[in-house]
Amino acid sequence: MDSESRLHTLLAGAEIEAAVSRLAEEVTRDYQDKRPILIGILKGVFVFMADLVRQLDFPLEVEFVRLSSYGSGRQTSGRVEVVQGLSCPVKERHVLVVEDIVDTGITVAFLIDYLRNEEPASLKLCTLMDKPSRRRVPVTIDYTGFTVPDKFLVGYGLDCDEQYRNLPDISFLED
Ligand code: IMP
Ligand code: MG
Repeated sequence: MDSESRLHTLLAGAEIEAAVSRLAEEVTRDYQDKRPILIGILKGVFVFMADLVRQLDFPLEVEFVRLSSYGSGRQTSGRVEVVQGLSCPVKERHVLVVEDIVDTGITVAFLIDYLRNEEPASLKLCTLMDKPSRRRVPVTIDYTGFTVPDKFLVGYGLDCDEQYRNLPDISFLED
């Protein structure tokens, strides 16, 4: 049995595309005159960020930080490690944090706390997926693509032990 047969599609590529278009409309409405900085959290966000920004037709900047809370496998370690920090000033800028999935909330809450201290003009969060059943830290999400069930998801940038990031659909792994 190959590993693909353990995958069950939750969100097909076309559904994801529709959600990204809707999010892009919302972000355009709110940011088109603000020259925002979009800060993506690597690695999981790289596919979503690439699709989102190509639908934003106004001046903006793209930055990435790389944070890690997963040692390996499916369990969060609960500690956030800054693998690569922010390399641009955000003071008095409009900042939109872009995340693939908010699960326990630990990763994004850490980044938002850090950014708030840097005194941006505004600070909001856009996530492709929200998995609220697993939240351990409160997080305010301003733009949500999908609310998803408590399953470990892969594809469209999300991994399990660095595998599956390249798949165009979002699937869950059979236990
Ligand atoms: P949190 O700190 O628990 O909210 O987890 C956030 C990060 O863990 C996300 O940015 C993802 O990269 C990763 N993550 C959370 N849930 C999943 C999942 O179901 N599949 C793959 N990665 C996940
Ligand atoms: Mg991520």
